[in-house]
Amino acid sequence: MTLSFILNDENITINTEPNRRLIDILRNDFGLTGSKCGCFGGLCGACTVIFNGSVSPACLIPAFRIRGGKITTIEGFSFTKKYSDIERGFNLHDVESCGYCNPAKILVTETLLKEKELPPRDDILLAFDSIRCRCTLGENLIDAVITAAEIRQRRLREKNS
Ligand code: FES
Ligand code: FES
Repeated sequence: MTLSFILNDENITINTEPNRRLIDILRNDFGLTGSKCGCFGGLCGACTVIFNGSVSPACLIPAFRIRGGKITTIEGFSFTKKYSDIERGFNLHDVESCGYCNPAKILVTETLLKEKELPPRDDILLAFDSIRCRCTLGENLIDAVITAAEIRQRRLREKNS
């Protein structure tokens, strides 16, 4: 089937089988390997992308569902100032570790900070419920997200002053 959608702010049209997984399309057709293949069952969160504004496991999204949709992967997001805010927060709290699911953690953080400028600790913990990261401790990650939020707030204040 022919599908048109927006991928990292670019209009894209492809021809593909309707049931192919989005994760396979991203990695194999577009070389976007930041989203990782883990469990292929919606459990580990390593394949997370932002799909129509929400974080979603790309392994559970069949091709036919992306028609007319908007997808952001870590590759597209990494060019933004918002990405740099989060990266700085993560670096200050040593969040990266092995890095396997870091792209997923960054996209989850971005979606959360879009909803709440300075999210409470419980909300942060809940947001990361979908990511099974073996490396990063919960408290570390929470502190990193709060620092990223503060960095972003400072940057926006300075821009508007
Ligand atoms: S590979 Fe998609 S959730 Fe694990
Ligand atoms: S960063 Fe290592 S498993 Fe998540």
